[in-house]
Amino acid sequence: MSNEPAIAPTIESEFAVLPQHIGVIMDGNGRWATAQGKPRNDGHRAGVEALRRLVACAVEFEIDYLTIFSFSSENWTRPADEINAILGLMKRFVASDVSKFVAHNVRVRILGRREGLSKAILQMIDQAESRTAHCTGLQLNVAFNYGGRQEITDAVRALVQDAAAGKISAADIDEAAIAEKLYTAGMPDPDLIFRSSGEERISNFLLWQAAYAEFVFYDEFWPEFDREIFVRMLEEFAGRKRRFGGVGA
Ligand code: FPP
Repeated sequence: MSNEPAIAPTIESEFAVLPQHIGVIMDGNGRWATAQGKPRNDGHRAGVEALRRLVACAVEFEIDYLTIFSFSSENWTRPADEINAILGLMKRFVASDVSKFVAHNVRVRILGRREGLSKAILQMIDQAESRTAHCTGLQLNVAFNYGGRQEITDAVRALVQDAAAGKISAADIDEAAIAEKLYTAGMPDPDLIFRSSGEERISNFLLWQAAYAEFVFYDEFWPEFDREIFVRMLEEFAGRKRRFGGVGA
């Protein structure tokens, strides 16, 4: 949020339709670094700066929900030094940015499986969530130790447990019941999912919630993300015709 514009935005006049919820797959940190002859972890460091620019944009444009894919349940297979670097960056990010989030009314939620995480990571999650719990502006969801299939599996398991306990019957299991067991319970589905770095795939991100999302893929690596890209993405979204399975207006 250090890159706030000097001039107040004219949101209503610029965009006919703004997404309420944006999901972002921050891809290309490693390739950005390698292309510059730098170690991959420099890419992750630059990726955090890009993330700060993204959050500033979301605050500026009064987006309600922003969900970022920070660490997947599959990312644990990366080399230990890279995992430690990413976790270290996240820890520093929470320590240094949470007070700025509070100042900008940003609520932080962490989405992902908690079982098996270390005490230190759980403390970090608790600190980020509890210190911003009263904020009512942008909700920043950080998908951490997150996998979409794992999320749906956990939801199904929770429903089966409810059924076994006699709290629900099979007939009670509908789309709303499943959605209520997801990490995103109570939140709107993403309208727009953005992925950087030229890769055009979902990679197990918000699988259930992305059913009717518009996808935007740009070639820039994640560390290159800036306000110009954000505005381009909003313009592209505003130009899409969303039909939700119908024939449209
Ligand atoms: C994808 O690039 C990026 C990641 C897997 C990690 C993203 C992490 C951060 C931006 C920093 C930590 C997060 C927070 C919330 C502070 P890649 O490494 O897959 O790049 P590549 O595809 O070019 O190898």
